[in-house]
Amino acid sequence: MADLLFDHITALQGDLPWGSVLDAGTGRHSLAWVRSLSTTRWTAVTADPDMEDAVRGDPNARMRPRDRIVLGDWSDPGLLRGEVYDTVIADYLLGAMDGFAPYFQGRLFARLAPHVGRRIYVVGLEPLPDRPATDAERVVCDIARLRDATLLLCRERPYREFPMWWVSDRLEQAGFSVISQQRFSNVFSHGWVDRQLGMCERRLARLPAESLEGAMGQYIEALRERAHAVCDAHRGLRCGWDHVVAAEPRGAATLPR
Ligand SMILES: C[S@@+](CC[C@H](N)C(=O)[O-])C[C@H]1O[C@@H](n2cnc3c(N)ncnc32)[C@H](O)[C@@H]1O
Repeated sequence: MADLLFDHITALQGDLPWGSVLDAGTGRHSLAWVRSLSTTRWTAVTADPDMEDAVRGDPNARMRPRDRIVLGDWSDPGLLRGEVYDTVIADYLLGAMDGFAPYFQGRLFARLAPHVGRRIYVVGLEPLPDRPATDAERVVCDIARLRDATLLLCRERPYREFPMWWVSDRLEQAGFSVISQQRFSNVFSHGWVDRQLGMCERRLARLPAESLEGAMGQYIEALRERAHAVCDAHRGLRCGWDHVVAAEPRGAATLPR
């Protein structure tokens, strides 16, 4: 399957066999990629029952008897106790953790360390800029702020992203040696705009005051129009980066102080 970040991970893996693979924060995208690899077995973990249903119900799902989908939370010390995997993929797991195990992010890599036999790959989104400098950055940041505000007003927790340096520092503290870290420019599409704003629209009726529903609805419409116009003018909305960090166990893992 075509994906710049997974292609990068495949290149880093080189001749090393994938062996057993743990998709530590699974979703349809990462699991479809893991399924496409030559693995001896895989386990896919999610903390979200809806995500579990989505990956189990995927019509393209190919699962061997030794492959597993597990509903569990990394803040539970018993999750996958004693299980070691050659390759661990943490694909946009860190940023999503605030909704399931808030404040546990600093311990995630120490928690995963006993499960990493040979290599871990961490994929994430760099936090968006606080001071956007271009039209594309301004509209992407406005959409992200609206999305997060909507989630908070609906008593949900938005994602919380961490920069690549933070990921690398925490991996080193958790007993890994970082062997590669790279950022990739993001260009957001109409599809991204519509998905983010659609998520806000679906929550309008749950906003805590009726007066907000109309006002937010109008703001969403105006933002959609602006975002599509900037997107068309610049052939996409260039803003921020994704990152991929690869690391290998250095020795016994320790919890960060
Ligand atoms: C952004 S989503 C899915 C990304 C995914 N790799 C994909 O293909 O799109 C993040 C995943 O991490 C999982 N997750 C977040 N916090 C978790 C936690 N504390 N324990 C286990 N899984 C967690 C979510 O349940 C979800 O399955």
